Amino acid sequence: MDEFTYITTPIYYVNDEPHLGHAYTTVLADVLARFARLRGTPTFFLTGTDEHGQKVERSAREHGITPQEQADATVVRFQETWQRLHIRHDDFIRTTEARHIRVVESALQALWDKGEIYAGSYEGWYCVPDERYWTAKDVADGLCPDCGRPVERLSEKNYFFRMSAHQDWLVAYVEAHPDFIRPESRRNEVLGFLRQPLGDLCISRPAERLSWGIRLPFDPDYVTYVWFDALLNYVTAALGPQAVLPEGISDWGGGLLRSDARFATLWPRCVHLIGKDILTTHAVYWPTMLHALGLPQPRMIFAHGWWNVEGIKMSKSLGNVVRPLDLANVYGVDAFRYFLMREMTPGRDASFTPDLIEARYRSDLANDLGNLLSRLVAMTGRYCEGRIPAPATETDAERALRAQVEGISEPVFEAIERLAVNDALGIVMDLVGATNRYLEATAPWTRAKAGETGRVHTILYTGAEALRVASVLLSPVLPERMAVLQRSLGCEPRDPRRADLVLGLLTPGTAVVPGEPLFPKDVTA
Ligand code: MSP
Repeated sequence: MDEFTYITTPIYYVNDEPHLGHAYTTVLADVLARFARLRGTPTFFLTGTDEHGQKVERSAREHGITPQEQADATVVRFQETWQRLHIRHDDFIRTTEARHIRVVESALQALWDKGEIYAGSYEGWYCVPDERYWTAKDVADGLCPDCGRPVERLSEKNYFFRMSAHQDWLVAYVEAHPDFIRPESRRNEVLGFLRQPLGDLCISRPAERLSWGIRLPFDPDYVTYVWFDALLNYVTAALGPQAVLPEGISDWGGGLLRSDARFATLWPRCVHLIGKDILTTHAVYWPTMLHALGLPQPRMIFAHGWWNVEGIKMSKSLGNVVRPLDLANVYGVDAFRYFLMREMTPGRDASFTPDLIEARYRSDLANDLGNLLSRLVAMTGRYCEGRIPAPATETDAERALRAQVEGISEPVFEAIERLAVNDALGIVMDLVGATNRYLEATAPWTRAKAGETGRVHTILYTGAEALRVASVLLSPVLPERMAVLQRSLGCEPRDPRRADLVLGLLTPGTAVVPGEPLFPKDVTA
């Protein structure tokens, strides 16, 4: 399959601290990329940071440093968090990098040359101390919703992208490509939005007011609107580490597709993972920008739901922001990843509560998965001198478990193709549960007492194999813990691959390695 060869997350604002929501999107992308690698699909996984704009400029001023220094100081929060959370991205893009600035300038120039960008006048309600515009709806009482001070009517020259000219094309495109915007509810939301006439998009800010941005190549008194800059990151990274653009390229789209084989391969297979908060920018602004540039569309835009905290929106002002590393420090990184993936139904909102992660940790991980491993390793120690036994004759009980193991990959991969990682995990955890029940039903401890050695060997081998296969399918979510599990069962851990999903790979005679519990019970929040 070539479903998920290029996977992106939104690029996060550097002025913020990574929180549960950022961690969710990034772990989801990492899990999908790891599943793709498991299946043998070449994968390119991109994340990064959005570093221009007013907030960074302002906080730099407050700290008495340059905006670049401010961005350099804060980008590490994201990089360190991703490293801790076992995120294995192929590229980390920062919008202040030279490779990206070149791409944005080139795109602006190409659109200007084509007449897709024009100079016009922008009118709106402006808050002078906050240096920002508000819409009439925001300032119904004449006051700035942020600082409460009076706003004033202002009109100024700016540059506009002819977004309205692409509206009919976009509607037809979305209608003809049912999988372009997913899930269905978000697609309907976009189609609903597109029933109103689409305006043109103001894509500049006067540099005298906001200098921390990319200058318009055709008018250096202006910088680019931050979203115009940010969205293009996905193209920059697809162009490779140097992002080389052909000299004086006018046919930006067709030209790139012809001149850059890497880009031509990656771009049409791109899947953008986003939160529902940034649907319009990705599903309306971005496709029209690409279309104006003459580029094809990415394969899919997938908007996931919102993580709330105890049913309430997470926000700094409410003081309920959940920090990913706080949870990872208590439950372990992999358990935290498991929780995020298991608890969120794609397309819906999820609510974080401390009880929920505690319950998932105890029931799914410590009890079902962790106990299965310790029972198997302990019994192999007791009844088989600590070595993987050679199986003897199978009975119906083994055949039933084997059938479940053999049939598991298809539905798991099918769920992953729907981006339903929660369903995929449910299927694998059913196998873990079935393996526990198999041990209960076949009771090797009773057989051992009765001296039925062959039977004990068959049961322990079959149980260990079922757990090993489950661990391969869990490894995209729990990469570090599943490597430990596999080592305990006597297999050399390696990056999981499809071939590991067949039964019978454990070699009889290999020593099992007893160790600490995989998910210790004495965690304290
Ligand atoms: N910089 C823009 C994105 C530009 S992409 C070309 C931005 N950045 S952000 O730092 O605000 O991060 C937005 C993303 O973080 C959301 O789209 C979503 O992926 C994630 N989340 C932020 N809060 C969230 C929740 N409470 N719940 C789930 N995810 C949310 O917007």
